[in-house]
Amino acid sequence: MLDRIRKISEEVANFAPKAIEEVEDFRIKYLSKKGLIPALFDDFRNVPAEQKKEVGQRINELKQTALAKLEELKASLQVSNDGKVELDLSRPGDPMNLGARHPLSIVRNEIVNIFTKIGFSVNESQEIEDDAHCFEKMNFPPDHPARDMQDTFFISSDMNVLLRTHTSSGQSREMETMTPPIRSLSPGRVFRNEAISARAHCQFHQIEGLYVDKNVSFADLKQTLDYFAKEFFGEKSQIRMRPSYFPFTEPSAEVDVSCSLCGGKGCNVCKGSGWLEILGCGMVHPNVFKAAGIDPKVYSGFAFGMGIERIAMLRFGVKDLRLFFENDIRFLEQFVAAY
Ligand code: DAH
Repeated sequence: MLDRIRKISEEVANFAPKAIEEVEDFRIKYLSKKGLIPALFDDFRNVPAEQKKEVGQRINELKQTALAKLEELKASLQVSNDGKVELDLSRPGDPMNLGARHPLSIVRNEIVNIFTKIGFSVNESQEIEDDAHCFEKMNFPPDHPARDMQDTFFISSDMNVLLRTHTSSGQSREMETMTPPIRSLSPGRVFRNEAISARAHCQFHQIEGLYVDKNVSFADLKQTLDYFAKEFFGEKSQIRMRPSYFPFTEPSAEVDVSCSLCGGKGCNVCKGSGWLEILGCGMVHPNVFKAAGIDPKVYSGFAFGMGIERIAMLRFGVKDLRLFFENDIRFLEQFVAAY
């Protein structure tokens, strides 16, 4: 039986008609009710049980191939006036499906675009870091909980080489290698040893902003973030700053944006408060400047960091963070990108 299938498959593959009528002969010979392929289906009941699976698969494949070939031949063959068969070279090609950009890339590109308009440029930093750049130079005290085994993925057993837990590590590298004025944006992936759930993942993405120059003030920071919120969430958006703590900035703040879904009235996305937390920020701590060789008496600066997943969830109404990493095409193809 398998030999028979193989033989017919070869015939089908090699079939090359010289005239359009032969296409109909092909259909009759292989696919019509009394054709060779339906005959295989008829004889299938005599196949021993242990071969049924393989033989069944082969016959089905053969049928699909023959059907596809028939369609292709029908579509591509035309008879010209003198009776010769021609390929119609003017037929349009098969339509190609356009890909969609990943929602996290859409959001990242949009954020990058907003900041490049006001003079920031992109500097991606490295994902594998050392303790110095991720923590020490960022003014983390030695016993800070972020250094804990529970939070950080260490690569070397002396706990010196690790996967960065935040894109702020790029700040210390930029300040070491660039001379102010610095206006830098650093998007990238970060890693934390967290249990995976709808709201947390062991890998996610952040965008870090850093501005260092003479006379940079907290008012500059606020104005920059207000500009960002209005560009990204809409003209009517407002921000509010709440005092907070980060080792690498002083003073530090967390920034909320007025809820773009309810306009600040309160809904279930903003849990009735009218505000959504979007980022952390502050004025670069003098110790961070000193560790990077920049004189804090001459220069000042601000920094901010935001989670891309969080912002993408707000923008697209995605309720489960895991969807961003599963690469399910039914999820991904819903996103249309302007960038
Ligand atoms: N690195 C912080 C985090 O991962 C976010 C952050 C806060 C970044 C304040 C900053 C900043 O640059 O100034 O949660």
